[in-house]
Amino acid sequence: MTNLADTWGIHKAQFWLRGQVPDEPVRFAPELGMWNVYGYAETLRILGDPGVFSSNTMRLVPEIRRSVEGNLVQMDPPEHKKLRSLVSHAFTPKVVADLEPRIARLTHELLDAVDGQDRLELVADLAYPLPVIVIAELLGVPSSDRDMFKQWVDKMLESSTQFSLVNRSEEQERQVKVALEQSQLLLDYLGKHAAERRQKPREDLLTKLVEAEVDGDRLTETEVANFANILLVAGHITTTMLLGNTVLCLDAHPEEGAKVRADRSLVPGAIEESLRFFSPFAAVARSTTSAVELGGKTIPADKLLMVWIAAANRDPRQFTNPNVFDASRDPNPHVAFGRGIHFCLGAPLARLEGRVALNILFDRFPRLRMDPEAPPAFIPSPNMTGVRKLPLLVR
Ligand code: HEM
Repeated sequence: MTNLADTWGIHKAQFWLRGQVPDEPVRFAPELGMWNVYGYAETLRILGDPGVFSSNTMRLVPEIRRSVEGNLVQMDPPEHKKLRSLVSHAFTPKVVADLEPRIARLTHELLDAVDGQDRLELVADLAYPLPVIVIAELLGVPSSDRDMFKQWVDKMLESSTQFSLVNRSEEQERQVKVALEQSQLLLDYLGKHAAERRQKPREDLLTKLVEAEVDGDRLTETEVANFANILLVAGHITTTMLLGNTVLCLDAHPEEGAKVRADRSLVPGAIEESLRFFSPFAAVARSTTSAVELGGKTIPADKLLMVWIAAANRDPRQFTNPNVFDASRDPNPHVAFGRGIHFCLGAPLARLEGRVALNILFDRFPRLRMDPEAPPAFIPSPNMTGVRKLPLLVR
């Protein structure tokens, strides 16, 4: 794997994708001023105890201290529970399941557009536009604005350096500034749409969000915009990575690929294994509210933790042969969608998009394979693991 990880431009920090095991499951990184957690058991402990391991990490990072109103990912109980139950009313399993025919139609339309060609670039042709169009349509913002979202989101996420609390370089400050400006553009755009829905309700998720009510409370415009922002950003990048990574994993492990192609009941398992093997969100962040013992170390209060779920998903103490891609792995208790109260709200949608798109790719392209002349390229970020370019031959 060593050579492939380097050839594909996987970030150097992701040593677990190079067959290496961490010396310790929990380790302080003095150059970053934060704690890294790599172990599976330690990850479960953290995600299961939001009282000690708070999701509000912005309080420790003055550069990005901003309103967490409506930002579900940064909230702790009891506020988190209330908002989560409000938005869950609008984003129900039925809302997601009903999207299946639309996802299938869109996949076919996107592939029709490149019909007759010898090759595809999976990300640009399918894996990027599909989830963005789906989430834009679901929210009710024009999917034709997607080039604009892409610009904002790409600039927001372009940072390839590891954020440090200790070495506050000019480059880091510039990257944070750009990210905040871009995210404000997106928030303003969504806020405008949310305000319109209050005046003129429609049949869309934005309207459901402005109308959602729990115990007589409704969401404010800022909360709706912040939440829609999470959906749009999450809906952009993660499912794109999931689709690309799954096709790549099945190609790089041809026996597994052939097995899944021949028995489509294995598709959902292959998607779960891709999530474990190349976890799109490599890390989630937490902050300690009090001193705590973890993995044989004492972590003081008010410290920032990077919880490397991607490394936990390769922990040999939990997974047999963690560096083997096994589409039939069962059970597969990976933590790529997190665990506990913040478990990914979009997981059913991501899984559905992955399953539908992969089946259609198999149906339409019996000879789909990587182009030996054009290797895939990964996003050069330490915190994400996903292809941003995957050239494929189709004939
Ligand atoms: C939360 C991963 C797709 C919306 C999370 C978390 C992870 C994650 C790890 C937990 C964060 C934490 O504990 O701090 C992924 C992956 C995806 C994916 C790997 C695709 C393969 C999506 C999609 C959406 C979405 C498509 C929405 C359309 C959310 C939301 C939360 C969340 C709203 C916050 C939940 C909460 O804090 O209660 N996701 N996600 N995700 N995800 Fe996803």
